[in-house]
Amino acid sequence: MTMNTRSLGTTGPQVSALGLGCMGMSALYGEADRAESIATIHAALEAGVTLLDTGDFYAMGHNEMLIGEALRAAPAARREQALLSVKFGALRDADGNWNGYDGRPAAVKNFAAYSLQRLGVDHIDVYRIARVDPDVPIEETVGAIAELVEKGYVRHIGLSEAGADTIRRAAATAPISDLQIEYSLISRGIEERILPTTRELGIAVTAYGVLSRGLISGHFRADRQLSPTDFRAHSPRFQGENLQHNLALVEALRKIAEGKGVSVAQIAIAWVLSRGEDIVPLIGARTRERLAEALGALEVTLDPADLAAIEEAVPADAAAGERYPEAQMAHLDSER
Ligand SMILES: NC(=O)c1ccc[n+]([C@@H]2O[C@H](COP(=O)([O-])OP(=O)(O)OC[C@H]3O[C@@H](n4cnc5c(N)ncnc54)[C@H](OP(=O)(O)O)[C@@H]3O)[C@@H](O)[C@H]2O)c1
Repeated sequence: MTMNTRSLGTTGPQVSALGLGCMGMSALYGEADRAESIATIHAALEAGVTLLDTGDFYAMGHNEMLIGEALRAAPAARREQALLSVKFGALRDADGNWNGYDGRPAAVKNFAAYSLQRLGVDHIDVYRIARVDPDVPIEETVGAIAELVEKGYVRHIGLSEAGADTIRRAAATAPISDLQIEYSLISRGIEERILPTTRELGIAVTAYGVLSRGLISGHFRADRQLSPTDFRAHSPRFQGENLQHNLALVEALRKIAEGKGVSVAQIAIAWVLSRGEDIVPLIGARTRERLAEALGALEVTLDPADLAAIEEAVPADAAAGERYPEAQMAHLDSER
């Protein structure tokens, strides 16, 4: 398979058409296997994936150290092709609680210094605050990253879950390569205002939750036991009647997938890929098996009849339940 590339906006680098999101290798989806996680990163690099996404708060530095270890163990050529996208800003404690966000310039520089050490690199390719800090003007947060760019510690500036007005203000401060935001068949909120804004400004979208955290992967079963630290144990879309409703949508999608001889996950990823060359899905695979399935989506072509059938099976507002619990929805600048 040859890996297609896409551009991270008009100012960012060329990256593989699919990025690897490493969050689930450390946190939020229950236990992960360290050796298999590292093998998955290596397999992704081997297949031509260049973009690796992480956050310094994914298990309090664990995810960055894991990626650092995987890169050190990879052949030099593979290590050099990796572009690291890092989120910062979330405040945690030793119990794993979430205590808000910090986008003050001094905090930005502090977060970056620690990330460089944990990752074992001399620069971060794309650096972004995970959630807009409501107490700090975005110009100040982005301005601090711009200073890191000037010093060579960061190459490009990204955003995460920012709304249209914030995106404009950020782009007026410094060049922005991409907005990281949830986008999938069942999370289409960005289509109304955010996507037209990024497109106008030449900013790419790195899409997460493309499989809605496994919900629309075709593998998620209603009787799956989730640990209390699993995000899905608290996500409205995975609860009771909402879950039944959402899994019925997956069955409608499965009929289309079977008709094309591909998997449900591949249809869901291919659909996001089909929405525009400016969109790069981040795939949350944490095993080589899931990674291989996700990469197979690059070979899936959706013609107008397929797209119409998918739209009929899963209309834009079909999902039951919000994409985050209420308290976390309040942190989303993109939902204002
Ligand atoms: N900016 C933000 O606010 C934000 C928020 C969340 C995530 N992210 C980033 O985006 C990345 C992707 O997000 P996500 O993990 O929620 O995405 P996702 O791809 O929607 O969900 C990943 C989960 O789907 C399941 N799955 C089933 N089949 C799969 C397949 N073939 N390939 C991949 N996963 C499959 C896996 O769960 P099981 O392994 O349990 O089966 C996996 O943990 C994250 O790793 C993180 O880097 C960013």
